[in-house]
Amino acid sequence: MVKNAMNKPDTIQPATGKLGVLMPGMGAVATTFIAGVEAIKADLGKPIGSLTQMGTIRLGKRTDGTSPLIKDFVPLAALEDLVFGGWDVFEDDVYAAASHAGVLDQKTLDALKEPLSKIKPMKAVFDRNYVKRLEGSHVKQAATKWELAEMAREDIRNFKADNGCDRLVMIWCGSTEIFLTPTAVHDTIETFEQGLKDNDEGIAPSMIYAYAALMEKVPYLNGAPNLSVDMPCMLELADRQGVPVGGKDFKTGQTLMKTILAPGFKTRALGLRGWFSTNILGNRDGEILDDPDSFKTKEESKLGVIEHILQPDLNPDLYGDIYHKVRINYYPPRGDEKEGWDNIDIFGWLGYPMQIKVDFLCRDSILAAPLVLDLVLFTDLAQRSGWKGIQEWLSFYFKSPQTAPGLYPEHDIFIQSMKLKNTLRFLMGADLITHLGQEYYD
Ligand SMILES: NC(=O)c1ccc[n+]([C@@H]2O[C@H](COP(=O)([O-])OP(=O)(O)OC[C@H]3O[C@@H](n4cnc5c(N)ncnc54)[C@H](O)[C@@H]3O)[C@@H](O)[C@H]2O)c1
Repeated sequence: MVKNAMNKPDTIQPATGKLGVLMPGMGAVATTFIAGVEAIKADLGKPIGSLTQMGTIRLGKRTDGTSPLIKDFVPLAALEDLVFGGWDVFEDDVYAAASHAGVLDQKTLDALKEPLSKIKPMKAVFDRNYVKRLEGSHVKQAATKWELAEMAREDIRNFKADNGCDRLVMIWCGSTEIFLTPTAVHDTIETFEQGLKDNDEGIAPSMIYAYAALMEKVPYLNGAPNLSVDMPCMLELADRQGVPVGGKDFKTGQTLMKTILAPGFKTRALGLRGWFSTNILGNRDGEILDDPDSFKTKEESKLGVIEHILQPDLNPDLYGDIYHKVRINYYPPRGDEKEGWDNIDIFGWLGYPMQIKVDFLCRDSILAAPLVLDLVLFTDLAQRSGWKGIQEWLSFYFKSPQTAPGLYPEHDIFIQSMKLKNTLRFLMGADLITHLGQEYYD
């Protein structure tokens, strides 16, 4: 039985003191997030794409005219109170890593050199068997995975003490690992701990970080499609330790577009015959996803979206025969500035075919950075509200949202948004908004 204990809290602990954000993986996404927060604090830019900073929430009737900023409605940690840290297989500090990632312009990074160069990654829990296209030397050495977990736990405690943090959140911004499915070792806390001691090959580095976080009562969020906390032993641990968890895989780029467009077709009862998606990108993530084992993990994460939104079993005439294909091609000249093409074959009245072409020239890490910020702030809010386990209301941010076993994930971004906002209203004791709207006509 999976529990997530999301009752209305009597009190929400205040967001006072420092909130440490720990990131396994300090590459393009993590450094764009950190440098972005520093840039916003220095008034060099605005937090565009972040619901916690720029989004509003309607309270009461449409005629009330009450739509505060979300950050003025719920008690979130302030940007000034965030402290950043993490691990990487490369020694580069955040200034050097952000310069290498090449997402933000060098002038902005140079203006922030002082705070960014102070953030240095800790040695990674890393094993090349799980990310084949990556090689780095800034890596912990130990005889067993159990010892590695103990070392990661010590890192967490030291980081908290050294930086005077009141609370921590961990968010995986590391590379996509090879495709794994849960096995017996992932069944219970006991089998997992035994697996750590036995160096079980089913235990990937991301799981070791997740275990370390939960043992230290630190919420864990998963920005990649790796299993990490999506398995029974971690949910049992999250419940025992009283910590929120969430995943998987940041919803950016092409999948964001899919979860915007597909609900539109369904809402108007238009049919879908095929959806062909291809991407070119040239950052390190693209290079790693060029490896078929890592791509398989990503592919699984991307493919489920359309089926869950369109529900072919309920609508076989419209969605019973869909051909869905996703490709990612590593193309170095593009760097982080990905291009995603979609060819969508739809059909209308009497089955007449139509086509839609989408060419999204996006910037992967620019889309992902605000999601990291929101996930961190909302999960910290959940923790201070006494909520634990899977935070399904944060599905809005994920390509492959984690749910209780047996429950299909909600992918429709508009339903996800309604759920997120109603959860905030519920948390604060405000009326939920059903959009029934009868009161305006009584
Ligand atoms: N950018 C997006 O829009 C987006 C969207 C969804 C998911 N993601 C996922 O987010 C993750 C990060 O993306 P990115 O563009 O920053 O990639 P990146 O390659 O620039 O950064 C990943 C970093 O993780 C490090 N790393 C890998 N394994 C590690 C380990 N075990 N411990 C510590 N560090 C480790 C790598 O050295 C690298 O610096 C990837 O898994 C990617 O698939 C990104």
